[in-house]
Amino acid sequence: MQKRDIIEAISEETGIPKDRLPRRFEIIGKSIIMSLIDFPEYMKYSIAKSYVTKFKLWSFYELVEIKGQMRVPEAKLIYGINTDVTHIENGILFRLNPSKVMFSKGNKYERHRLLDEVKNDEIVVDMFAGIGYYSIPLSSRVKKIYACEINPDSYHFLIINKMINKSETLIPYFGDSSFFPLEGVADRVIMGHFDSLIYLNKGLSILKNTGIIHLHALVKRGDETINNYLVNLRSVRGVKSRIVKSYSPSTNHMVFDLHIEKE
Ligand SMILES: C[S@@+](CC[C@H](N)C(=O)[O-])C[C@H]1O[C@@H](n2cnc3c(N)ncnc32)[C@H](O)[C@@H]1O
Repeated sequence: MQKRDIIEAISEETGIPKDRLPRRFEIIGKSIIMSLIDFPEYMKYSIAKSYVTKFKLWSFYELVEIKGQMRVPEAKLIYGINTDVTHIENGILFRLNPSKVMFSKGNKYERHRLLDEVKNDEIVVDMFAGIGYYSIPLSSRVKKIYACEINPDSYHFLIINKMINKSETLIPYFGDSSFFPLEGVADRVIMGHFDSLIYLNKGLSILKNTGIIHLHALVKRGDETINNYLVNLRSVRGVKSRIVKSYSPSTNHMVFDLHIEKE
């Protein structure tokens, strides 16, 4: 059955008109996660049950918010079982528990772009690796990739994902990437956190004399402040920016590619 037909069937079963059902949801492995902010408590169970049965899943999580520096989801199990799932994307296995760690399906294009861009002799440092959304796919394309992660739950899945994908070139680093011990080693540094700007000096110190930094940030639409700041930094030779995804009605998730040549 097509997704459209499934939504139709859920609408019929729950009695909620199609255009009132949540539009944004993510199916991650055998689980589904979405906000139910527009629905009263008493309706949530039947909505959740209908999504789980019609999409043939195991669990429904209500996403309340994503909290703090570690981007931990507050996700409540509404129907089904709370368990680890395996999400498969282009042959890569991502094992995770949606109630413990986030999975950014919306960053798919960015992952593909990086895969096309890297060269097989590169050393890469992913300063905010999560469960390995960038590091695991990249590991088969580069010489070596260091994946830093501070959250024990995310680190746990990063290690599992390294094992199940046989990512031999991936070297995990558990802890704050501000204390990553190597300097001047990387051809490319990935800074996939909205607070990346605070860590830019550390990113620069990890990079070789020339290289690329991919710096992610949340940017108000039309606001050029971050771009202007980056363009004027001493070792930045060029900045290219692109929208990763729309984050809210007024904000975009952006990535800035900084071409670095240290003086
Ligand atoms: C927004 S997630 C992004 C994960 C992945 N890069 C992606 O795009 O899907 C950011 C990750 O960085 C981790 N993190 C936050 N601060 C960190 C730090 N100082 N050092 C290492 N990891 C950190 C969080 O625990 C979280 O897993």
